[in-house]
Amino acid sequence: MSGYAWAMPTLNVSTGTLHYRDAGDGEPIVLVHGFPLDGQIWERVAPLLADKCRVITPDLPGFGKSFATGSFTMDSLADVLVELLDQLKIDRATFAGLSMGGYVLQALVRSHPGRVGKLIFVDTRANADDEKGRAGRDAMIALVKEKGTPGVVDQMLPKMLSPATFAAQPDVVARQREIMLACPPATIANACAAMRDRLDFTPLLPTLECPLQVIVGEHDAIAPPEVSRAIVAAAKGARLDVIEAAGHMAPMEQPKAVAEAILSPSPP
Ligand code: MLT
Repeated sequence: MSGYAWAMPTLNVSTGTLHYRDAGDGEPIVLVHGFPLDGQIWERVAPLLADKCRVITPDLPGFGKSFATGSFTMDSLADVLVELLDQLKIDRATFAGLSMGGYVLQALVRSHPGRVGKLIFVDTRANADDEKGRAGRDAMIALVKEKGTPGVVDQMLPKMLSPATFAAQPDVVARQREIMLACPPATIANACAAMRDRLDFTPLLPTLECPLQVIVGEHDAIAPPEVSRAIVAAAKGARLDVIEAAGHMAPMEQPKAVAEAILSPSPP
């Protein structure tokens, strides 16, 4: 976000502290990061939105610059987003969540539907982990205990970005690695357990009362486009945007296309 005027306050919240970036005026949009990441993954998209709306990018508790006193679940992370809105005196906002950020928003809309004006899922899933997925979480917890954050980065990074990004955007690859390497091992282990234990959101898709938009990189290897298509099919009236030349990290890889999708009127 260099060259852009960002306020970067830190709030005291029930889980410890909550650091966030805040820029622009108008309708608020809260951009929620995935795993093992922090709010900086939105640094190329947020300036493109801030001319049109107020853009708030928190570091979830335990990630980035937000300190957490204890462990977290998807529900407790969602509750902290409500604390953020309360402290900023925002009644209702648009929320966009990438991957794990989407899981947090699923917990949020379950518990506090009135605080969500519009929901944007980015490179995420609605289903819970199956048995294989849960075993994979346990394996990653073991991996981070044995090899620390670098072991997790080595395993995950090749799957996070599209072939086009690896070939043509070395700066994005380096930045992605840098953000991932900063995630504390204890946060990685906690997030794996929290994602493993999250609830299935699929049955709620047809009952959503707010507008839903789904954005996915065409080469997302972690939450592939067919997963997003199934979400859109289940939630009536949802909008789907497939981002070319992007993988799982569409906002880092193709920020202009992601910002344009977010600013597009719904439905398409
Ligand atoms: C993420 O990008 O947040 C994670 O890959 C989500 C997941 O592992 O389910």
